[in-house]
Amino acid sequence: MTLRPAEVFRVAFQNPVLLAAGTCGFGRELSGVVDLEALGGMVTKSITMAPRAGNPAPRVAEFDAGMVNSIGLANPGMERARDDKLPWLADHLRRARVLVSVAGHTVEEYVELVRGMEAADGFAAFEINLSCPNDQRLGGRAFSLDRDALTAVIGRCRAETSRPLIAKLAPNDPDLVDTARAAVDAGADGLTLINTLPGRLLDPGDGHPRIGAGQGGMSGPALRPVGVHAVNAVAGAVDVPLIGVGGILNADHALEYLHAGASLVQVGTASFAAPRAAERIARDLARRRDLPAPWGASGRGGPSHASPGANPAAVPSTEPV
Ligand code: SIN
Repeated sequence: MTLRPAEVFRVAFQNPVLLAAGTCGFGRELSGVVDLEALGGMVTKSITMAPRAGNPAPRVAEFDAGMVNSIGLANPGMERARDDKLPWLADHLRRARVLVSVAGHTVEEYVELVRGMEAADGFAAFEINLSCPNDQRLGGRAFSLDRDALTAVIGRCRAETSRPLIAKLAPNDPDLVDTARAAVDAGADGLTLINTLPGRLLDPGDGHPRIGAGQGGMSGPALRPVGVHAVNAVAGAVDVPLIGVGGILNADHALEYLHAGASLVQVGTASFAAPRAAERIARDLARRRDLPAPWGASGRGGPSHASPGANPAAVPSTEPV
């Protein structure tokens, strides 16, 4: 069984499974272990203007239903990401699509990031990370919770790029549907739902936080109902493709998101325990019958949320991986 490629926010994907930002570096780090070309694509680690060393260790702690992380957006900064990391992706990935994730402290930083990356090769779209819960300068507050800042970022970034802009939103948003509508009205071509949920793990012995930054973002199985609920709620309110992320460990979990209204899914925490989890999920999905649109192997239902017109990244049908 093979999947027909589907066009999602003007980009052709060979299958719906992507690696989530922050779980695959810039691709090269995983290339000896994961067949990136078997995936729909990957999202880079979020890039900031200046290099960041990240938050104090330990940065990750597990619990019985997932994990909490506070990496603190550790990354080499825009210039090194663009000049040293992107060329490897441009040279090595033909079938898998790359989304570059960017994160700023200010509206201006997001704009500079998109402007600075736009001329680079090797990626199909931007994922605008508006929802990191671990940015100490923002006190753990997600950028997307400030409506004026959200719309300014998307509107001003829109003017800097012809690539699709995908806004990644936060789960702890009491007005998520309104935020999603505002992001789309400002120019977002798609939405990634959702980032990690703010959380804290304490050592039961001494009561100290188990991660260095104190609080962090919770991911893994416990996040899945939150993510599926977010996709389900937003799918009826906007007319752009959605990427579902949170707690996907297997093809059934990916299908929950696809049935809720996502066109693509991202696998994150599962990759830490099983680096090839995303490959397995893509392979297993390709064997399923009657996937929801835009992936319906039966040929029923065309690509949902697909934009008509140019297909800048046409790909052949996926071979089983
Ligand atoms: C981090 O680097 O701390 C995580 C980034 C994110 O959750 O957006």
